[in-house]
Amino acid sequence: MSDLSRLRIWDIWVRLFHWSFAASVVFLLFSGETGIGFFDWHRWAGEFVLLLVLFRLFWGFLGSSNARLVPLLRHPVAALNHLRGLLAGERHDERGHNSAGGWAVLAMLLLVLVQAVTGLFIADEEELIEGAFYYDVSSGVNEFFYRIHHTNAELLQILVVIHVLMVLAYLIRTGQNLILPMLTGRMKWSSDKTPPAVVFAKPWLGLFFLGVCYLLLAWLLRWPPLF
Ligand code: HEM
Ligand code: HEM
Repeated sequence: MSDLSRLRIWDIWVRLFHWSFAASVVFLLFSGETGIGFFDWHRWAGEFVLLLVLFRLFWGFLGSSNARLVPLLRHPVAALNHLRGLLAGERHDERGHNSAGGWAVLAMLLLVLVQAVTGLFIADEEELIEGAFYYDVSSGVNEFFYRIHHTNAELLQILVVIHVLMVLAYLIRTGQNLILPMLTGRMKWSSDKTPPAVVFAKPWLGLFFLGVCYLLLAWLLRWPPLF
């Protein structure tokens, strides 16, 4: 009989992904908005985030069952009902993302992907840093992607703030601490219902996918020392 007070939820790769992704995105938004650390690190952090998103897509199709991305597309009514329950202070233990959180996860991955891809085609005004494909496209395309990079950054900031506020809302309204499981990989299961089964992928598979994503991007973006 497993210890239900310390039920396994997030595998090591979801947790490593989350905290490195969160730290990099916060740095990128900060450096983009303030210029601090921008010329030294913005491009490299942006390409690193692209690696993370690519990895998460692999993990979202071939990783642990509760990290899968397609099942996160739940019916919007279910998501709204979940949020209504949250407002009312109802607690629903989940061994994965809930129906509203799933949409937020997909939106965050999508916006960061758009941000990183548009970054590849733009440069700052003095052309001190250029994206890997800046010179491969016309100035009209540069300008178009620059505008998306600018506007999408605003949307992303709003989404990140909502994300953190929602995590705090669970803590305050329902007493559910979602942060600890994202750190330790284990959660407290307090519902009477039997917890759903989760199939955890072998940890070495994550290392393999990360290697594949690294080689793919190293080739595409000509990362030294390999290319
Ligand atoms: C692929 C790598 C990336 C490259 C090469 C890149 C490059 C650039 C450049 C050249 C600028 C314009 C700076 C200026 O106006 O002088 C910029 C702005 C910015 N970038 Fe990136 N970026 C990348 C990825 C990202 C990512 C992933 C994020 C966030 C998750 C991000 C967030 C921002 C923000 C917030 C700004 C300021 C936008 C504005 O207010 O105009 N960038 N980036
Ligand atoms: C201090 C800041 C943050 C905290 C406390 C936090 C906390 C969390 C928690 C608890 C979850 C799991 C939610 C659940 O149980 O369903 C989560 C998921 C997630 N968060 Fe954050 N987060 C933070 C910052 C960020 C930032 C800056 C981003 C960047 C966009 C981000 C992106 C994500 C993503 C993509 C997931 C889904 C993880 C996955 O399935 O791989 N988080 N976060």
